[in-house]
Amino acid sequence: MEEVGRIFGDVGLGQFQLSLAHPVERGDYLTVIDEVHGKVLCQLDDLKRKSDLDLEHAGALQPTDEGAIHESLLGAARIVGYRDPQGLVKIPSIPFRPGAHVYLAEEPLIADVLGLKHHTNSGAYVGMLRNHNLKVELDINQLVQRHVSVLAKTGGGKSYLLGVLIEELLRHKVTCVIIDPHGEYGSLRVPAEKNGSNARFGVESQGFARQIQEYSPDVSLNPSAKPLTFSLRSTDPRELLVFMGLTNLKAYLAPLKQIIENVATANPDFTVQDLVRAASVGEGAVAETLHERLEYVEQTKLLGPKGTSLAELVKAGEATLINLRGVAPDVQELVVARIATTLFENRKKNKIPPLFLVIEEAHNFAPQQGTATCSRILKNIASEGRKFGLGLCAVTQRAARIDKTVLSQCNTQLILQVTNPLDLKAIAQSIEGLTPGMTDMIQSLPVGVALVTGGGYHTPLFCEIRPRATRHGGESVQIVPA
Ligand SMILES: Nc1ncnc2c1ncn2[C@@H]1O[C@H](COP(=O)(O)OP(=O)(O)OP(=O)(O)O)[C@@H](O)[C@H]1O
Ligand SMILES: [Mg+2]
Repeated sequence: MEEVGRIFGDVGLGQFQLSLAHPVERGDYLTVIDEVHGKVLCQLDDLKRKSDLDLEHAGALQPTDEGAIHESLLGAARIVGYRDPQGLVKIPSIPFRPGAHVYLAEEPLIADVLGLKHHTNSGAYVGMLRNHNLKVELDINQLVQRHVSVLAKTGGGKSYLLGVLIEELLRHKVTCVIIDPHGEYGSLRVPAEKNGSNARFGVESQGFARQIQEYSPDVSLNPSAKPLTFSLRSTDPRELLVFMGLTNLKAYLAPLKQIIENVATANPDFTVQDLVRAASVGEGAVAETLHERLEYVEQTKLLGPKGTSLAELVKAGEATLINLRGVAPDVQELVVARIATTLFENRKKNKIPPLFLVIEEAHNFAPQQGTATCSRILKNIASEGRKFGLGLCAVTQRAARIDKTVLSQCNTQLILQVTNPLDLKAIAQSIEGLTPGMTDMIQSLPVGVALVTGGGYHTPLFCEIRPRATRHGGESVQIVPA
């Protein structure tokens, strides 16, 4: 084992300081040999270079004096633990001795203590432990039973990572429904072009066209999708107003109810066309607006006699994309509310397989302040979904703006770079076991490195996300040709 330094000063039960003879990086794994328990895994949480050069002398420093500066490299380490004979991870109950040797940890010890398992039946391979050749696999049962959040600033790599996760879920034939506000995930059908890092990660290009189906309320904008429709009969007048784009309930709800009542009395199997016809005879500004907006709803073909059936919407072992690109925000919320409610109700009755419901831009659908039409059902799924095998995956660039009930119910967090102080605070408050050093590191994570907490692991770990097997759909738009 390669020695890197010695323990000094006051030694605690969970952490210690060390003087470093060799530079190591923050986050590196270390080993101390405990007299009773043998090799104990530790992690470098912080680093400091101390010197005897004070402010006064620094100003007058000559190049020839530089060699005379006394400096030392100090580190603060956190004890991760050792595995006891029963296989449990424990922390020694007596502090290490000052002066004890500290070594770079070897991979078998890291894998053993962290619990990194390879090729398990329930493992989703998302990447490699940072700076090591050890695969990180997340436990799919935990993901679906105990919810997931994916958090990063914009452009931090959330959609890329989610793509990796969905590839793995599809490989394991896990049923998924993905709320896709930007229409990014259709590219899961297409194999990625090869890139250099695939060999290190052992990823082969592969498309999932056979396991992807796509629906959209607006197929003229999203021609790759099949039309998503809802049954007119199960749409109440308030919901109909949302589809019509009318927010003034006071002005429009009563007259709309009247039109529906008149039409339904004459023909219980009425269509939107019947409503348009009935509205056309009305007089005055309100009637004209209702007529015009009902014509618009008729054109969207969103409300039909039957609506997209559950059997069409959820197919075992496949991913259904709900492409909401170009759809008005309030209609998006209503679509999410209706789909999430249908999934939850039918999951309770075991009419559909256990599934993973992904909500991209989740701060819009379950906001901390104000409400969205779908807030309540998403909060219900976050708190009760696990009992019924309905896993929620909330993806957001604003951890501070997403509902705290939803965020705190996510037991697996995949965190990429976050710099906004409010978002960092929200993350630190919702995750157990996050050290100040880790919170600090989240601010400077390079693209493609995630902090993983939960997912079957007892301690947070840094993971280099593996390349995609499919093409990434969220590429930034080029403003000027490169
Ligand atoms: N693990 C990775 N390896 C290589 N490139 C990556 C990785 N993660 C992200 N990228 C690149 O970074 C860019 C931004 O990633 P992505 O679209 O996933 O960000 P995002 O967090 O979803 O952003 P937004 O909030 O705007 O939706 C992409 O162009 C992608 O190619
Ligand atoms: Mg994205």
